[in-house]
Amino acid sequence: MTELLEPRAIGQALVRRDGVDKVRGTAVYAFETPVEHPAYAHPVQSTVARGRITAMDTSAAEALDGVLAVLTPFDAERLPATEDWEYAVLQTDQVAFRGQLIGVVVAETSELARQAADAVTVSYDEQPHDAVLSAGRDDLYAPEQVNAGHPTDSAEGDVATAMATAEVTVEQTYETQLLFNNPIEPHATTALWDPAGEGFLTLWDSTQGVHPDRAAVAEVFGLPEDRIRVVCPYVGGGFGSKGNPHANVMLAAMAARALPGRPVKLALTRQQMFFLTGYRTPTIQRMQLAADSQGRLQAIAIDVVEQTSKVKEFAEQTGVPTRMMYASPSRRSTHRLAPLDVPIPSWMRAPGECPGMFGPEVALDELAESLGIDPVELRIRNEPEVDPDTKKPWSSRHLVECLREGAERFGWDPRGPRGHRDGAWLVGTGVASSVYPTMRQATSTATVRFEDGRYAVEIGAADLGTGAWTVLPQIAADALGVDVADVDVRIGDTRYPTASVAGGSSGTNTWGSAIVQAAREFRGKYGTDPHPGDEVSGDVDQAALDSDHAAYAFGAQFVEARVNADTGEIRVPRLIGVFAAGRIINPRTARSQLIGGMTMGLSMALHENGVFDTRLGQTANHDLGEYHITVNADVGEIEAHWLDEHDPWVNVMGSKGIGEIGITGTAAAVVNAVYAATGVRVRKLPVTLDKVLTGLDGPR
Ligand code: MOS
Repeated sequence: MTELLEPRAIGQALVRRDGVDKVRGTAVYAFETPVEHPAYAHPVQSTVARGRITAMDTSAAEALDGVLAVLTPFDAERLPATEDWEYAVLQTDQVAFRGQLIGVVVAETSELARQAADAVTVSYDEQPHDAVLSAGRDDLYAPEQVNAGHPTDSAEGDVATAMATAEVTVEQTYETQLLFNNPIEPHATTALWDPAGEGFLTLWDSTQGVHPDRAAVAEVFGLPEDRIRVVCPYVGGGFGSKGNPHANVMLAAMAARALPGRPVKLALTRQQMFFLTGYRTPTIQRMQLAADSQGRLQAIAIDVVEQTSKVKEFAEQTGVPTRMMYASPSRRSTHRLAPLDVPIPSWMRAPGECPGMFGPEVALDELAESLGIDPVELRIRNEPEVDPDTKKPWSSRHLVECLREGAERFGWDPRGPRGHRDGAWLVGTGVASSVYPTMRQATSTATVRFEDGRYAVEIGAADLGTGAWTVLPQIAADALGVDVADVDVRIGDTRYPTASVAGGSSGTNTWGSAIVQAAREFRGKYGTDPHPGDEVSGDVDQAALDSDHAAYAFGAQFVEARVNADTGEIRVPRLIGVFAAGRIINPRTARSQLIGGMTMGLSMALHENGVFDTRLGQTANHDLGEYHITVNADVGEIEAHWLDEHDPWVNVMGSKGIGEIGITGTAAAVVNAVYAATGVRVRKLPVTLDKVLTGLDGPR
């Protein structure tokens, strides 16, 4: 148990410290880093989905005036580390997916680099590819573990017997779609080697973590980490796609090494991002629920099938939230992967929990209907005393309170009906739960220094637009016992102490813990009257890392959906979420995170849909013209509220992380509301009018 930091600056809705610079356009992003005499790189990508490159003719590209270098797998430098297939750029003539990086052109302008890349002609020995995800494949396999280190499968009790004997059961298959992160700032790097070309590399890279980024590049290029500097003060969104570097970063570093002393800029195009920067696998979720007549679960099971690339495994932990959300004596979860000739899936906002709170939360709605029990009440009746998976006590769990407060704020009628007609519009309401684990990374270090009457705090943290620039000073100020205006926090550079990735909603929890520790050690060493230059470093306090509790943030989301009875048009005028996410450090930036997550969940429910052309082996709608993301006109009223939750187990701030929980459960709540409106149960996302129209009554 930790005594929580006394909140003074914490809890205040301070404005973003970086807001003015961003609005004025003076905040510098990776690609626009001002450097002397930059050159520009443009990738060459494979145009087959599988095969071997037999030849590349670069003569036409090299003949263009202003082309500085053309690299292919046949002449690129050999990298010392090639175990990670994604990072081993230009090391093989094998093609594992369409759009793979197979070359790079460096030129005096970006236009010329692009023209020259197009002028490279490639011959292939093309082989048949296999890109069809289905639950019926005979080569599905169980990975050794799934993302975040979870066991692949879990089992307890006897699901089959419960399904055969229970009073009510639900057995359905639910599917989530192919999704792309699409941060508005593309993946971009400015890379500069010192003139010797082997000594020192500087990367201005758009990344969710300068230190993890540096570690990956150091490994691939066989350099000690102190010979690489990564700088990233601002990020225009990542959503996980910048959590690990992708091949573009390695390609930028390689391209720059061809021109030592000259900075090289490489920004992926929006279209290239659909091939190269990760995505969320489609998932197929077979759900089984068994309950007694009072709605108490007797069994809950999820069997997931999803895809990975053949050359680098990524196993989305879709079945994981089912393990811990609700009480049930019998339980099962499994993950099976289809190894395909497709781009490499990776992290996208709430990997696991986001798709994994779709099937179960729709299935619960189906169960509630079969039982004639209010879906809010059904969830409350299955509230577990302890974590059903690990049997550990909760650090804190206020799902029931979120459901109750959400119901009240929304005007939820527990007696139903949840659907009615308003002129041409069929109106319905739906609910689903949200969850996200509370994580803190094991290591991060912060430095506190006294300078000219002010405190400088340095840590290599990342602000993806989430608010780290603003909330870390709030934490530092309270830990030091000073006014927040007297604290400067510097982040986004490997020159500052090592920081963990901005991922898993763990950034504030981890970096804040290190900052508090550094501040306390500073006060212990120098008291309250320090001298200029006094400085200490502090690490995340290992002794305070708690492993005896199951720590999660919870939430409940309520949706009003309107479906046009004639056209099937679907609108969501109202979306209300109530969350229990520990102590909220800054209500302004927190609300923005929660509303952002909910909007992204709405986008998943209604709009986003990667359409994979299995014949070509590529996403057909690989741009923002065709891949529709919810825009302002699609969003009605969205409200995010939170409970005042005290959790002494998670960390010294009492914060749980808020970057990802908002996207979990939203799509299920929308599907449940559309069902209440129309009687049409959509089990495959997104919910589009074609899926609803065929089930609507009335004249066509
Ligand atoms: Mo987030 S997908 O954990 O960067």
